Amino acid sequence: MENEINTTEVLTARGVELFYGETRAVRNAEISLRRGEVAAITGQSGSGKSSLLYCLAGVLPVARGEVCFEGRSLGALDDEELSTIRRERFGFVFQYGELLPELTVEENTALPLRLAGQRKAEAHAAAGDVLGRLGLADLRDRRPSQVSGGQSQRVAVARALVHRPAVVFADEPTGSLDSANATTVLEEFLALARAQGTAVVLVTHDAQVAARADTRYTMRDGMLAAQVREAS
Ligand SMILES: Nc1ncnc2c1ncn2[C@@H]1O[C@H](COP(=O)(O)OP(=O)(O)O)[C@@H](O)[C@H]1O
Ligand SMILES: [Mg+2]
Repeated sequence: MENEINTTEVLTARGVELFYGETRAVRNAEISLRRGEVAAITGQSGSGKSSLLYCLAGVLPVARGEVCFEGRSLGALDDEELSTIRRERFGFVFQYGELLPELTVEENTALPLRLAGQRKAEAHAAAGDVLGRLGLADLRDRRPSQVSGGQSQRVAVARALVHRPAVVFADEPTGSLDSANATTVLEEFLALARAQGTAVVLVTHDAQVAARADTRYTMRDGMLAAQVREAS
């Protein structure tokens, strides 16, 4: 019997369009993500990658089409339902980690659990566990200003995964790092996501990074196309 978990569609988009005024940033986008799948989206600057990510994550409402998470259309949810999904079922990583400077590494990592109402002791235990898996246990009491760029992106990864979300949206998550560091952080990120069954939508301009995904898409002038895997 097939493993149901791995064949279930967790996120689907059909005919998605997004405009900024007259600019049509996303055109008729179709994408489908299974549980635990890593999908990479590459494309030039300005091609609409970030805009598509915002649509998929329910951050921006779509002008046309539909995004469904676990079978529920995001457009049909009220603000509270949508923000609960974003907070508890989604995780986010951006190019510059965007950690809160006044919180420690461990507090930053525990934040999604605290926002979901988990008690401090449990939230910090879970944060410590993820930080340990990413080799960051010794840094837990530091502030973001006291860690390196690569370390701070690892903390951002830890924070995105700590609540075991269904989907992590990562927009150029290693774009601020040198290529050796970028490769390591990305490998750790994807290994941890795969281990806990978290699907990832990974926006990157780096073909080597994209090569580590299960499925690849390219974006051009707002149009998303599945990239055919080359026979080798
Ligand atoms: N907030 C905004 N207001 C108006 N236009 C925007 C905004 N954000 C992005 N755009 C435009 O939408 C298009 C897609 O941008 P974006 O999604 O940021 O592309 P990418 O992430 O691939 O670099 C570009 O033409 C960009 O100039
Ligand atoms: Mg972008």
